[in-house]
Amino acid sequence: MALERTFSILKPDATRRNLTGAVNAIIEGAGLRIVAQKRILMTRAQAETFYGIHAARPFFGELVDFMTSAPVVVQVLEGENAIATYRDVMGATNPANAAEGTIRKTHALSVGENTVHGSDALETAAIEIAQFFAGNEIVG
Ligand code: GTP
Ligand code: MG
Repeated sequence: MALERTFSILKPDATRRNLTGAVNAIIEGAGLRIVAQKRILMTRAQAETFYGIHAARPFFGELVDFMTSAPVVVQVLEGENAIATYRDVMGATNPANAAEGTIRKTHALSVGENTVHGSDALETAAIEIAQFFAGNEIVG
């Protein structure tokens, strides 16, 4: 077991439906600690950089449109095995395939409007955290 930090986004479908508290309750219930959090309106440049790995995918334009369509809440979550723990509690990308009790099964609308993002590895977590937070904004 290792104490890790992961990067999380509560996506526009969550802020639009006033679900940030409901999602945070699931996050905290899973034993993850929210050690940094802020609500922002992502610019297109920020969204394109963040999801750059998907630039060639057919849904990229739709993804950037969605991520800039309303405010998001960016977060740093800390806990034992935080990366895998959060991926588990998020559930599958497509909510139709997500397990009962997961954030996406409970709240997501579709494969695009799927409520949350979570980093998929230690290296990507570090890059994603650094894109949105200065070191002194994270208080563990
Ligand atoms: P993230 O935590 O957001 O990275 O989700 P993920 O790791 O579960 O999925 P992935 O990295 O493969 O895809 C990134 C995001 O692109 C997804 O969360 C969706 O919001 C979006 N996405 C993936 N597939 C589709 C698709 O077929 N259509 C649309 N509109 N969006 C998609
Ligand atoms: Mg991903």
